[in-house]
Amino acid sequence: MTKRQIHFGLIGCGMMGREFASAAARWFHLLDLDVEPRIVAVCSRTPASMEWFERNVPTVRLATTDYRQLLEDPGVEAIYCAVPHNLHEQFYVDTIQAGKHLLGEKPFGIDLEANRAIVAAARQNPNVLVRCASQFPFFPGAYRIGQWMREGRFGRIIEVEAGFWHSSDLNPHKPINWKRRIATNGEYGCMGDLGFHILYLPLRFGWKPKDVRALLSKIVNERPDRDGNLVPCDTWDNAILACDVETEAQKFPMVLSTKRISPGHANTWFIRVLGTALSAEAMTRNPKQMTWLPYTPGGEQAWRVADVPHQSAYSTITGSIHEFGFSDAILQMFAAFCDELVHGPEMKQPLYCATPKEAAQSHQVFTAALESHRTGQTASVG
Ligand SMILES: NC(=O)c1ccc[n+]([C@@H]2O[C@H](COP(=O)([O-])OP(=O)(O)OC[C@H]3O[C@@H](n4cnc5c(N)ncnc54)[C@H](O)[C@@H]3O)[C@@H](O)[C@H]2O)c1
Repeated sequence: MTKRQIHFGLIGCGMMGREFASAAARWFHLLDLDVEPRIVAVCSRTPASMEWFERNVPTVRLATTDYRQLLEDPGVEAIYCAVPHNLHEQFYVDTIQAGKHLLGEKPFGIDLEANRAIVAAARQNPNVLVRCASQFPFFPGAYRIGQWMREGRFGRIIEVEAGFWHSSDLNPHKPINWKRRIATNGEYGCMGDLGFHILYLPLRFGWKPKDVRALLSKIVNERPDRDGNLVPCDTWDNAILACDVETEAQKFPMVLSTKRISPGHANTWFIRVLGTALSAEAMTRNPKQMTWLPYTPGGEQAWRVADVPHQSAYSTITGSIHEFGFSDAILQMFAAFCDELVHGPEMKQPLYCATPKEAAQSHQVFTAALESHRTGQTASVG
C-alpha cells in the first residue's frame, strides 16, 4: 500500500513533543492505515531541548527557536503544538492563519478569551483541520464506552462521573514548574491542565453541563524554585464540579473531578456512566479491565468484570491479550488526526479528535466553575 505522507512540524520539544515524535517513529505498529506522518521540522525555546530530536528523528531537516519559520515553510503541512498554555493563543492562531493543519494540545488557550480567538481563527479557515489533543478516550475500555454512547445503549442516563487524578503534588518538595503558576498555566489551575481529558467524551455526545457548582481547593501554597527558595504556587490543586446536564431528551447530574493531589493516583483517568439499560466504567488505573452492568427491568443487577482486548480505534500488531498504555493512546489519537486530515468524514473509524467547539465548551465549563467558586453559587455555563 502506498501511504500518503503528511509532513509535520512540531512546536514544543518537551514531554509531549517527545511522545509525539516517538509515536511517529513507530508508525509501522499500526496496520492497514494508508497515511503516515513524517516529522520534518521542530521548534523549541532552547536549542538544548531540540538536541534529542536531532539525534533521534532522522527526518528532521529544520530545528529552530522561532516557530514562525515552521509556519513559513511550504514543506510543512501540519503542526503538532505542545507549549505552555500562555502561548496557545498566539501559536495556534498563527498556525491556523498560515494555513497549516493543527493538532494543538489542550486546554486550547489559557482562558476563555484566548480560546475564543483560536476558535474564531479556526472558523475563518475552514480548510484547515484544527483539533485539540486528548488521547484518553482511545484507551480500549473508554473507546468501547464511547461506542456504546454512540449507539445509545445506556437507556436513560442516571448519572455520569468522570475524573482525572494525579498525586505527585502531595510532595511539598516537588519543585515549581509552569503548570503550577497562573501566569503560564492559567487561572483554571488543575481544571485547565486535566479537565479537557474528562469532558471530551461527554461533550462528544452532547452532554454539555447547563450549570455548575464548584469546589476548588489549594492545598500546597508554596513550592521550591530551582534554587530551593519557596515561591508562591498559586494554581488550584483540586476541583470537584457538580454539573446539571440537560439535553433535548433528558436531564441528569454529572460530577467531574480534576485533582493534582489525590493520594496514590499517579495518572488515573476514568469515566463511569450509569444508565437504566446499561452502566459501564473504564479507568486507566487498570487499563485492561472494564466493568459493565446490562439491565432489563426486573432482571439481575450483576456487574461484569472483564479484561478488554488491546483494541482501540486502529488495529495494531499487538496481540489482543496485551496491555494498552499512555503511548499507545497517543499513537491512536495521532492516527485519528492523520486519518481525518486525509479522508475527512470518510475516515476509517468514528472517533475523530476533539474539535474547537468541544474545547470551547470545556472553557465555558471551567469559566463557570471559577465564577461558582467565587460567588458560592451555582453558575450557568455559556
Ligand atoms: N495530552 C496529554 O496527556 C498531555 C500531558 C501533558 C501535557 N499536555 C499539554 O501539552 C502542552 C505542553 O506540555 P508539556 O508537558 O509537554 O510541557 P513541557 O514543559 O514538557 O514542554 C513545553 C515545551 O514548550 C517549549 N517552549 C516554551 N516556550 C516556547 C517558545 N516560545 N517557542 C517554542 N517552544 C517553546 C519548551 O522549550 C518546552 O520544550 C500543554 O498544553 C499541556 O497541557 C498534554
